[in-house]
Amino acid sequence: MSSECLVAASVESHGGDGTLLGARGLRGTPATRRDRPVLGGTGGRSPTTVATEFDHRSVLLEKSLSLLELQPNAVIVDGTVGGGGHAAAILERTAPRGRLIGLDRDPNALAAARRRLAAYGERARLFRASFRELRRVLDDAGEERVDGVLLDLGVSSPQIDDPERGFRFSADTADETPLDMRMDPDAALTAAGLLRTASPEELADWFHRYGDLPGARRLAREIVASRKAAPLRSAGDLRRAIESAGVGGGRKHDPATLVFQALRIAVNDEIGALAEGLEAAIDALRPGGRIVVIAYHSTEDRLVKNCFRDAKRGCTCPPRTPVCICGNHVRLKIITKRPLGADEDEIRANPRARSARLRAAERTAEPEAA
Ligand SMILES: C[S@@+](CC[C@H](N)C(=O)[O-])C[C@H]1O[C@@H](n2cnc3c(N)ncnc32)[C@H](O)[C@@H]1O
Repeated sequence: MSSECLVAASVESHGGDGTLLGARGLRGTPATRRDRPVLGGTGGRSPTTVATEFDHRSVLLEKSLSLLELQPNAVIVDGTVGGGGHAAAILERTAPRGRLIGLDRDPNALAAARRRLAAYGERARLFRASFRELRRVLDDAGEERVDGVLLDLGVSSPQIDDPERGFRFSADTADETPLDMRMDPDAALTAAGLLRTASPEELADWFHRYGDLPGARRLAREIVASRKAAPLRSAGDLRRAIESAGVGGGRKHDPATLVFQALRIAVNDEIGALAEGLEAAIDALRPGGRIVVIAYHSTEDRLVKNCFRDAKRGCTCPPRTPVCICGNHVRLKIITKRPLGADEDEIRANPRARSARLRAAERTAEPEAA
């Protein structure tokens, strides 16, 4: 799914597929004004939102940092490092020797994070990888257990804003926007590829599950009919299929929003990656370590909720089973009984924060050996 390459801010060589973006060469280069670490993570802006040089405003910054219960010298994973907004604030609050392991599938995001975090030297190590590969990354980094994991899911503003990446679908640029949507530009399957090859059942299932789209099956049939004449290549082609199918998004949503969101989730296997990433993250936490997840979509949030609930429940053997045969044990204590959202001020400053849902949990002590 993603390259073995280590994109480290502080490591000489690793993985080595030629795309190493290590900052050795930058060491000693004074940080530019925009690159300089932001004290307290906010740079004097509102405490809940910060604009990075990557031009992405970190969502629920204060709440996520406080729920991670950051201590000096802690080792924290940012599984979705993006432009490094949360990561910089984490490094500030784990000074003087705290370490950050940052992952992202997107090399552009990592390049921005590398610039942003260069001033922290070897305290920040960045990896081009999906968070579903967290165990392998931690092995490569020589970290057995960590004190905290942050996952701030979905896409960043620069990914959406770059028309070449194909995440945009606004009508005025739709015909020039390719149906791409890969977070990892080296991944095999683009949105156009998926629309060309998926069965009508698969398409309908994605539109329904990831987009809550009324008329999901009708749209799937329309896409299959229209691709017989010519493959869908641009966001404009998909918009026309949506229009011809006559599907609606309900009173609240433009159907295109729901369809493009569903397609993005499918292209990047976001739900599969999250299921595996959550398990890997919980396993990597030391007892007392915290996991904080910010989701922007109900399917993601439900998965986080259920995964936390299962890890809290422990043994699931039927009541009269004499000896546990399921092997499950309690691994988490849930910190947020209900998901936390952004307040009005943050939503006003950053509309993307509106759909954010934050959940946090704490790793429990290891079970006693029998
Ligand atoms: C909302 S942004 C994170 C922004 C970041 N917290 C900040 O403050 O700048 C989400 C990032 O997660 C990345 N991403 C999404 N799914 C991922 C996955 N499975 N593994 C690694 N990175 C992923 C995206 O490429 C994107 O850069």
